[in-house]
Amino acid sequence: MNIPNTEPERQLFFIQQAKEHVGEIQKKLGRPLTFCVNTFGCQMNARDSEKLVGILEQIGYVEQESEEADFVIYNTCTVRENANLRVYGRLGYLHSLKKKNPHMMIALCGCMMQEEHVVAKLKKSYSFVDLIFGTHNIYKFPELLMNRFDSKGMIVDIWKDTDKIVENLPSERKYSFKSGVNIMFGCNNFCSYCIVPYVRGRERSRQPEHIIAEIKRLVADGVAEVMLLGQNVNSYGKNLEEPVTFAQLLEQIEGIEGLERIRFMTSHPKDLSDELIAVMKSSKKICSHMHLPVQSGSSRILKIMNRHYTREHYLEVVAKLRQAIPDISLTTDIIVGFPGETEEDFLDTLSLVREVGFDSAFTFIYSKRTGTPAAAMEDQVPEDIVKDRFDRLLATVQEVAHEKSARFTETTQEVLVEDYNKEKDLLTGRMGNNILVHFPGDASQIGTIVPVYLKECKGFYYLGEMTR
Ligand code: SAH
Ligand code: SF4
Ligand code: F3S
Repeated sequence: MNIPNTEPERQLFFIQQAKEHVGEIQKKLGRPLTFCVNTFGCQMNARDSEKLVGILEQIGYVEQESEEADFVIYNTCTVRENANLRVYGRLGYLHSLKKKNPHMMIALCGCMMQEEHVVAKLKKSYSFVDLIFGTHNIYKFPELLMNRFDSKGMIVDIWKDTDKIVENLPSERKYSFKSGVNIMFGCNNFCSYCIVPYVRGRERSRQPEHIIAEIKRLVADGVAEVMLLGQNVNSYGKNLEEPVTFAQLLEQIEGIEGLERIRFMTSHPKDLSDELIAVMKSSKKICSHMHLPVQSGSSRILKIMNRHYTREHYLEVVAKLRQAIPDISLTTDIIVGFPGETEEDFLDTLSLVREVGFDSAFTFIYSKRTGTPAAAMEDQVPEDIVKDRFDRLLATVQEVAHEKSARFTETTQEVLVEDYNKEKDLLTGRMGNNILVHFPGDASQIGTIVPVYLKECKGFYYLGEMTR
């Protein structure tokens, strides 16, 4: 048998083989084999899961919601300890399902699998898991699955890092009208608390022509909105043979006919350029929303976090953005309880939240990640103090966000219709700034952009009425 040596041909070959294998089992059982992919973590993982789903559907598996399936995959996250614990917690339940279904297979992949201690624990105490792979070789899933079909024991394949990007594997979108698009992988920033650079490897940008071709295909297939994904999109293209800036990439994407909306995340404040602000200002398609994680309002803590900006710099960037795009919505991520954080540092964070007036914020309790510099820092903040600060932060964030989000009341906004609720007979859509709007209409409008008059703000969403 001639197994191709190039990608993606090699994986397409294994997809074919797996399809034959699965076909035989289905014939024997007289029913289709089912699968369920459970995704933890961020949008990167969500996009990776779409690739897994695409491959499994080509092989002939049928997707279902429940984990009582013939193939269950957990695409894991390890950014905070609780994401990690949830996976171990659920594995016991999967084991009980597997005892009842002799055809059941369990695969684990994603960021958690890039940690040696995790894989060691799984090998030792969770030997019923069939397949373990990491973030760098996710494209090899068809080949690994075939290896598992051909053997009896657990298959483990984890790579430490990669410089490879494999294009053109199948993928199945969760939504017909919007899609995530990876523009880069990995991260080089090594914020001192963060495990992502260790589990996602070094920064690699996709070639602009590959990104453009993918978006054109998506648009031809009915996609109105793309979300460009990267851990730090502002440093896109720096390491390409022919360097391209993120702003230049956006200009190229803007030119794609039929594409209506462009979003991106995440922006790192240290790399946000004037060029990007100018492109956003002149764009008709880039949403007037910026997710700009600040992490802390204290310059002292930001330095120890290795974020490479100060509170003052962050505020300057915000001022520039607001000057160029006055109604821009700003959202952020904040960590409380970073080692050595004093009450004074924390008050700086609270005052920054008020000063910026975020439209919303994700707030996190600092979680110690083994192997990161912050985990070895001495003055970890006691749990009760962190909890108290977290509650105060949340209250402030909610108060500020509440005031902020009401500012569009009695205006008309373009809304992308995403869902129809039968019971309430209401459509749900999203404004450019990501806020949800509910309004009367019918399901045929899903996937289209319509003008909606915002009658009333209900805290974090609006009630409205279509104006045509
Ligand atoms: N690349 C993005 C963030 C990816 S992780 C950026 O730099 O903005 C998403 C968020 O998780 C981070 O913004 C941070 O707020 C939070 N986070 C990361 N590591 C954490 C940790 N060890 N404890 C608590 N929160 C953490
Ligand atoms: Fe983590 Fe910092 Fe990289 Fe974001 S930029 S993924 S917080 S190391
Ligand atoms: Fe989690 Fe990995 Fe994303 S650790 S937040 S799934 S990059």
